[in-house]
Amino acid sequence: MALCALGIGAGDVVIAPSFTYVATINPILYQGATPVFVDCEKDTWNMDPDLLELALKKETEKGSQVKAILVMHNYGMPAQMDRLLQIAATYQLPVIEDAAEAVGSRYNGKQAGTFGKLGILSFNTNKVFTTYGGGALLTSDESLAKRVRFMASQARENLPYYEHHEVGYNYLMGALNAAYGLCQLPYLDQEIVARRNIFERYQAALAHLPFQQEPHGHYSNRWLPAVLFDDESTRHALAAKLAGHGYETRPLWRPMHLQPVFKDYPYYGEQLSKQLFERGLCLPAGTTFSEAQQQEVIRLITE
Ligand SMILES: Cc1ncc(COP(=O)(O)O)c(C=O)c1O
Repeated sequence: MALCALGIGAGDVVIAPSFTYVATINPILYQGATPVFVDCEKDTWNMDPDLLELALKKETEKGSQVKAILVMHNYGMPAQMDRLLQIAATYQLPVIEDAAEAVGSRYNGKQAGTFGKLGILSFNTNKVFTTYGGGALLTSDESLAKRVRFMASQARENLPYYEHHEVGYNYLMGALNAAYGLCQLPYLDQEIVARRNIFERYQAALAHLPFQQEPHGHYSNRWLPAVLFDDESTRHALAAKLAGHGYETRPLWRPMHLQPVFKDYPYYGEQLSKQLFERGLCLPAGTTFSEAQQQEVIRLITE
């Protein structure tokens, strides 16, 4: 809906992160546009501003029709928004924030999802805050909000009968989902504190391991505790060991420029995301994950 509201379509290029979940990228293809992948930086694991600058310079030289920059906040950690926004402004490009994982995260005190021209949040079942499916689109631009509401309601013209001049979508949230979300909203801060506590316990007990950092000015909801091991085989062995004790883990994202489906699109970077994929694991966390279970996971990793 965000891409649609900005009128992005066939022949257009959208700069997007390589280190992300596929749902950041698929909508670019739904619109018939082309993604250009930019790798991440080592501090937050989100889009690298220097590589963004390089990509914009090179794509401009090539004559690409770059229409937007899509930024994403991995595992709840806000990206380096000041620099990313500054670069976007230099090129007069709108920023769309995929804040699907970052509900309640903040950067310099401001909520993730509210930096770009448009932002999205996911309320999917596995997130910090859920409506059992669906999400929200954020914008402070009234005309874009109007356009999104219109396109998300089958592009139905404001007439007493059914008239459509464009192909729209049925993307509004169901009332039961919304009601569930409203009931949960008062507990959001509490849930974030619980997630941050889980993260801090891991970090304190496994201080020798490099966890995803939280640089000054960044405040993550710590959706998932992400950590790196020495190499791929250690990571793999550990995941298997934890699975053997009933604990689910997930490798970090396999970067988009290495996905068979996206392999032919341009990529700017030096493969940091590939290293994160090979070495990284999201450790167990969540609302029903008890402190005793966490102690057992810590013991299994320490062993
Ligand atoms: C980065 C990112 N973008 C988009 C989505 C898609 O959200 P949803 O499942 O609510 O469509 C997710 C998670 O599912 C995500 O992690």
